[in-house]
Amino acid sequence: MNLSETILNRKSVRAFLPDPVSRSVISEIVELARWSPSWGNTQPWEIIVADGEKTRRLGEAFVTEGMKKTAPRPDIPMPFEFSGVYRDRYMNLGRNLLNSMGIEREDKEARLKHYLNMYTFFGAPTVIYLAVDGELNVPYSCLDIGSIGVTICYAAMGYGLGTIFLAASVHFPDIAREILDIPHNKKLVIGIALGYPDKSRPAATFRSDRAPGDNICRFA
Ligand SMILES: Cc1cc2nc3c(=O)[nH]c(=O)nc-3n(C[C@H](O)[C@H](O)[C@H](O)COP(=O)(O)O)c2cc1C
Repeated sequence: MNLSETILNRKSVRAFLPDPVSRSVISEIVELARWSPSWGNTQPWEIIVADGEKTRRLGEAFVTEGMKKTAPRPDIPMPFEFSGVYRDRYMNLGRNLLNSMGIEREDKEARLKHYLNMYTFFGAPTVIYLAVDGELNVPYSCLDIGSIGVTICYAAMGYGLGTIFLAASVHFPDIAREILDIPHNKKLVIGIALGYPDKSRPAATFRSDRAPGDNICRFA
């Protein structure tokens, strides 16, 4: 696959096989991703990998919160409502994704199940958490986290792995901190679920759309 094909082939995977990802493969992915650009080469990222029993415990604790409909309490403020074109795109994604999975809008039970599935990382055996030190200018450092996060996603493809950035994985950072033994001053920005896609399921093959290039870019 050349670079353009790789870019076009990446997509968020929402159905994983339970097969574990070996730690040596994860180390190789991190080894590649650490070459991502960052502001002033500060490399503010801290990477915490949850796998095996840790992933299971995280999922269990998050689902407990999800069932109670506990409001998320992320370290980094995140938008939960959108308006205008952003709302349209957000709603469009939800509609198309659920359609592809054969879930009717009115089927509240299936929608709840999908929502709770997010909290078990759609079955991924590994979650790569990206944190920054609270001493840093956290909002700006999030750019660097995005930078390494995307590289992780592309690097993972080279090993036949699928990924998805999951805001849901950082809805309850206090829980993740406790299970993964992360100090309080480390702010959890995002978790990336990682695993082998279960290609037999539409949630693994679903493709989102995009606004046309001339809607988002102009030559000044
Ligand atoms: C910062 C960030 C957080 C995300 N959080 C979630 C999430 O919690 N649940 C989910 O299903 N998808 C999540 N996604 C995946 C997006 O929905 C997805 O990237 C978008 O729809 C574009 O689709 P694609 O990645 O398949 O190209 C997140 C993506 C990003 C970049």
